[in-house]
Amino acid sequence: MSEAVIEKVDNDGMVQLTINRPKALNALNSEVLAALEAHLVELEAHPHLRGVVITGAGEKSFVAGADITEMRDKTPEEARAFASQALRTIKRLETLPVPVVALVNGFCLGGGCELALACDWAVASDNAVFGQPEVQLGVIPGFGGTQRLPRRVGPAMAIDLATTGRKIDAQEALRIGLVNRVMPQAELEGYVEELTNQLKGNGPQAVRSAKQAVHDGLDQDLNSALALETSLFALCFAGGEQKEGMSAFVEKRKARF
Ligand code: CAA
Repeated sequence: MSEAVIEKVDNDGMVQLTINRPKALNALNSEVLAALEAHLVELEAHPHLRGVVITGAGEKSFVAGADITEMRDKTPEEARAFASQALRTIKRLETLPVPVVALVNGFCLGGGCELALACDWAVASDNAVFGQPEVQLGVIPGFGGTQRLPRRVGPAMAIDLATTGRKIDAQEALRIGLVNRVMPQAELEGYVEELTNQLKGNGPQAVRSAKQAVHDGLDQDLNSALALETSLFALCFAGGEQKEGMSAFVEKRKARF
């Protein structure tokens, strides 16, 4: 598989994907998108997947956006095809049945911010820089930013960022709810390991169902979403996980999922 995305699998089904184009600050070109999509197709079929961490190679950048050099000479039709490839790939990441963590280790701009917005968690280094600077290039966010950003941070802040193109630091990203945690770069990997270990300690099907309830419920009216939650809650009692989790509590021992 292409070296544009490196996959690192650990023994317990926690998979790390690294966008590997550090000389261009991991900008997303067609090759990177195709490699990422190929990995995601494989992960969709992974029988014991527990979670995914996505990051950028090097210490300077998560992803500095879609590749401007590649986009410069595109026609409207070619731009549409490029955006469609990215949207499809990012949707695959978003709809993986397990938690997806963006480990944001530097620039997180344009298409990079749009990639992070599709993740369930974003954990950023304190030197990370966020923004949707597309208007400064004469375009708008085209990898989902105009839609996922307002859903994450509210329409006022989304319009602020998408119309000014201003960059914000990690602390502001934390304040507006764009990221979950900020910490020194040296501590980032350790924290994500702690987080993924915590996820791995929980019932795997329960974790998947919790993600499904939140994601699917957001697309429904409240009553339908609550009915979905009830169904998924009841389903938990059909598998062995609930018996083990609750027995472990009663027997004062650690659950073995
Ligand atoms: N596309 C292509 N190449 C990029 C890139 C991008 N988005 N971002 C950085 N690079 C390249 C630079 O061209 C440079 O390459 P060379 O060494 O060959 O010249 C290399 O990465 C290093 O970048 P800089 O020298 O610019 O590094 P810096 O530290 O001075 O600046 C930066 C860093 C502020 C992130 C700056 O690179 C920058 O502004 N990048 C563009 C950010 C951007 O506008 N992103 C949005 C892209 S549009 C988009 O994403 C549309 C969409 O929604 C679909």
